[in-house]
Parts: sequence; structure tokens; C-alpha cells
Amino acid sequence: MNMMNLRGSLDVAKRAVDRCLMLAKLSEEEHQTTRTFLTPPMHEAHRLVRGWMEDAGMTVTVDAIGNLRGLLQGARSNAPLLLMGSHLDTVPGAGAFDGVLGVMLGLSLVETLDDQTRPEFGIEIIAFSEEEGVRFGVPFLGSKALTGLLDPTILQRLDARGITVTQAIRDFGLDPGDLKDAEFRSKALGYIEFHIEQGPVLDSLNLPVGVVEAIAGQTRLEVRFEGKTNHAGTTPMHLRRDALPAASEWIIEVEREATATPGLVATVGWIAAKPGAANVIPGEVRASLDVRHQDDSIRSSSVRRILDCARAIAERRRLQFKWEVRQEQAAVSCDSALTETMARSVETAGYPVHRMVSGAGHDAMVMASRMPVAMLFVRSPAGISHHSDESVRIEDVASSVDVGRQFLRHLE
Ligand code: GLV
Ligand code: MN
Ligand code: MN
Repeated sequence: MNMMNLRGSLDVAKRAVDRCLMLAKLSEEEHQTTRTFLTPPMHEAHRLVRGWMEDAGMTVTVDAIGNLRGLLQGARSNAPLLLMGSHLDTVPGAGAFDGVLGVMLGLSLVETLDDQTRPEFGIEIIAFSEEEGVRFGVPFLGSKALTGLLDPTILQRLDARGITVTQAIRDFGLDPGDLKDAEFRSKALGYIEFHIEQGPVLDSLNLPVGVVEAIAGQTRLEVRFEGKTNHAGTTPMHLRRDALPAASEWIIEVEREATATPGLVATVGWIAAKPGAANVIPGEVRASLDVRHQDDSIRSSSVRRILDCARAIAERRRLQFKWEVRQEQAAVSCDSALTETMARSVETAGYPVHRMVSGAGHDAMVMASRMPVAMLFVRSPAGISHHSDESVRIEDVASSVDVGRQFLRHLE
């Protein structure tokens, strides 16, 4: 990279980061960033991003699952498309960059094109509406609709306020009857996703960017321990069927399983006891379970052991144990040719190539079922993500802009 490009990339990076910070203010909650699938702040986010896309000369549409899509036509009407993007939804109390940075970087790359650098192929920037799975407990709704893999039974799922996915789509001003049209049917060169690493590896190696070779598979379940609600003052300990100590015992076993299995991570991130009063024995506990490993067979065996253990705990305590799969996503390898192009782009941009596996899930996992995918990670300072302290360094974002520019050049 010469000095001129480097300075240009810093300006581009600064604008992308400023936009992420602007979008982080669009939230369902006053003092933190929480922007889940098809909620009012997502309307606001669309308004801003649509404006930036249109200013960049893109034709913008919103498909029926709420993905915002900006199209820059190729040199010919039948030219293939390169897809780039990530998601605009967030976890509760999120940082400003998970997902959003990938959308802003795709847009930035389009903005940097001029008559000399505009490729023959077209570019579609996709701001996925749902990746985190927060509102309906099922992730990847945006990319599933785009790849034609959306399970229609999901449309009847309820959010915490009893609203179905179908109703949420209508409330956003979209038509669930058009969901089939969200499917991508044009000719694609592939899908590229820029994303913060969300872990400490690049920071520990003092590297700005990393090339993702594979994404760990994940299982997400909802489990339920059912006992008997009763009076907390009058029911002797040996006559109780308390669901909460059972769940607690099980959660410790989940941690033990993950600690004992190299490479496995397992998390109970959410728990709810019913009826939820200080003087009432909880008759029902529901909890989430998220299990990940880059080897699908290891993940499956661990999930089996974790469920067997829950059954045994429930039986010993005279409870019922039930569970439902919310998400089963196999590990995914990125496309080798596109990933080599990404690695070469890192090299020609002047950075060391570090190849890595993503423990986090990404829209690229789902897109891989339809087209070649490649990903570039941007260093996460201190490895912090899914937290308001999530951050990026402008210089690292500029490095990813350099890599993106090289990538477009090499792909051409
Ligand atoms: C997405 O952020 C995930 O859960 O990996
Ligand atoms: Mn996330
Ligand atoms: Mn993400």
C-alpha cells in the first residue's frame, strides 16, 4: 500500500467506524444497544443505511425477512454478483461492531470504487436482519431466507411478548407471502464477510486481520425441568420437587463437560424460573444451552452426554426433563479458492497472513450452503465482544479496507 492509499483507507475506516457508532444509538433500550429482529430501531437503522447505499449509487430493496439489500450492477446486466455483508441485529447490551462493521465495510468498499477500479462483476451488499437469534430464539433468519432454507414452522414461533414471526414481519410493513422472493437466485461469485474477531487471538499476536478458514458448528437447545410449585414455608425439603436446584446442578455439569473436552465451549446463557417469587418453590425452569466445536462429531457426543446427565438429574429428583432443538448448524469450511484470494489480498496489502477458525457463528455459515464464502477477521482489542466494551482500532479497520480493495482487484 502506498502512503496515499493508506491515508485514504484511514479516512474510509474512520467513516465506517463513525457509522457503526451512529447505528449503535438505535436501540430498544435507552442506555445500551439492543436492536433485535424487526423492531422499531431496525426501521431507523434501515433508513440510515439505505441513505448511504443510495448515495453510493446502489439500488436498495428490503426483502420479506427484512434483509436490506443494496445492488451495484455489474458492467453487463447478466454479470455475476459478489455478495458482501453481515448483520444489523444485535445481542442485548451489545457493542457497536458485531455484524454492523461488516455491513459498513462492504458499503465502504463500494464507495471507494471509481471508473478505474469498478469491477466487471456486480456487488450486492446485504445487511442481514437477524443473525443472533435473540428475539425468537432461532438465529440466522435473514441468511436462511436468502438461501431458501427458512423452515416455515418458524413463522409460528412466539417472541417474549407473544408475537409470531409472521406478525413481526407484517408489523415491519413487509408481507410474509413474499418470503420465497427473498431467496437469492442470480449468479454469484461468492459471499464475503468482514467481521470483528470477537476473541483475543489476533490481539495476542499483534495482527490487524486474520483469514477465516472454518467456522465451528453449533447446537442450541431450550431445556425444561418440570417439578411442582408449592409453598416455600410449609413444604419440607424432602417433599419438594424444586426445578431450580436441578437446573443448577445440571449447569455445573455443562461446565464440567466443556472443560473436560478440548476445544468445546458450552454455555447456559439464559435461565427463567417459574413462577418467580421469593416464597414459592419453582415448579418450572427453562434454560438455553449453546454448544460449539469445530468437529461436529465431538459436539454431538458432548450434547448427548449433557442431555443424558440432565435426564439422570431430573429422575433422581423426581422431575420431568424436556428439551427442544432451536438450532443445529454443522461446522463449515470456507471456500478454498476464495479464501486463497483473501489470503493473497492480505499479503499484497502488506500484512502477515494468519489463518484461523471462528468460534462465533456468522451469516457466512448459512451462505456457504448456496455459494463459496470467505471471511476476514478484524482484531478485537482485548478480545471483548457481545458487550458494550467491544471496540476496534481505526488502523485495523483501515487494514481491512486495504485487504478488501486488493480482494476486489484480485477477483476481477
Ligand atoms: C453470534 O454472535 C454467535 O452466537 O456466534
Ligand atoms: Mn454476535
Ligand atoms: Mn456477528
